[in-house]
This record gives sequence, C-alpha cells and structure tokens, in this order.
Amino acid sequence: MFEITLVHPYSTNYNTVLMEAQEDQHKQARPEIKDLPDNLDEYDVIILGYPNWWASIPMPIAAFLEHYDLSGKTIVPFCSHGGGRFGQSLTAIAKLAPDSVIKDGLSVHYSGGSTLSSDVALWLEENGIAHN
Ligand SMILES: Cc1cc2nc3c(=O)[nH]c(=O)nc-3n(C[C@H](O)[C@H](O)[C@H](O)COP(=O)(O)O)c2cc1C
Repeated sequence: MFEITLVHPYSTNYNTVLMEAQEDQHKQARPEIKDLPDNLDEYDVIILGYPNWWASIPMPIAAFLEHYDLSGKTIVPFCSHGGGRFGQSLTAIAKLAPDSVIKDGLSVHYSGGSTLSSDVALWLEENGIAHN
C-alpha cells in the first residue's frame, strides 16, 4: 500500500485547502509527491483511492498517474465525496491513463455509512479482486 503524501502538503484548514485545491486544478498543477516508488513493475492492478475535490481528482492523483507508464495495467478507482459522487474524476483518470483498463469504481459518501464494509466487499468481488 502506498499513501500519496506531498513534499509541500496542502493546508489543514478547510477553507484554505478549498482555495489551494481549486487553484491547483485551474493551473493543472502536478504537486511533488513524497517518496514515490521507483516503478510499479510488480503490480498489475492498482486500487486507486482519492477524495472528490472540485468534482474531479486532486492534482496529486494526476501527478501520480502521469509519473508512470501504466499501459496494460488495471486501475480500480474509489473515491470519497460530499455528494458529488465521482464527478468528472473517472474521465480525468481515463485521460491520464489512456492505455490502462479502468474497472468499475466505488464512491463513498464522506467516510461511508454502516454498510461500508459490505459495500467494499461486494465491490472488490465484482471487480474480481480477492480479499480476506
Ligand atoms: C478541496 C476540496 C474540494 C472538494 N470538492 C468536492 C466536490 O466537488 N464534490 C464533493 O462531493 N465533495 C467535495 N469535497 C468533499 C470531499 O470529497 C470530502 O471531504 C472527502 O471525500 C471526505 O474525505 P476527508 O474526510 O478526507 O476530507 C471537497 C473537499 C475538499 C477539501
């Protein structure tokens, strides 16, 4: 498991991060990710999680996707959101990973409800991913 964190993190203040994220999206910024793995050669399937930010992926996700040649790999996306479900995020991922297979995603409202674990289990099963 790799957690995407930044060399220069966004603010922890909600109103400030709203502005920072919007500005980064307008600029199509590619914030520098901390300790990126050299390559993803040993992985065929990438389960990619992110929050819906301004109806799309946060720009660090774009930086992550752009950093690697993901052709032939499978991406299984999931996102948390405040009501906007995936927004345009699946389109954005498809554009950044044009030669990857993108499987059915899972969107979760904030941190999910009481059915979260069964929702996740069903989603993994539907995508043919083994879990314990
Ligand atoms: C910068 C920013 C932009 C956001 N934009 C959206 C949005 O466009 N649509 C939406 O449904 N939720 C939006 N949200 C809400 C987040 O998706 C929600 O807070 C997140 O999925 C929950 O995870 P968290 O607890 O890590 O923030 C936004 C949140 C932030 C911080």
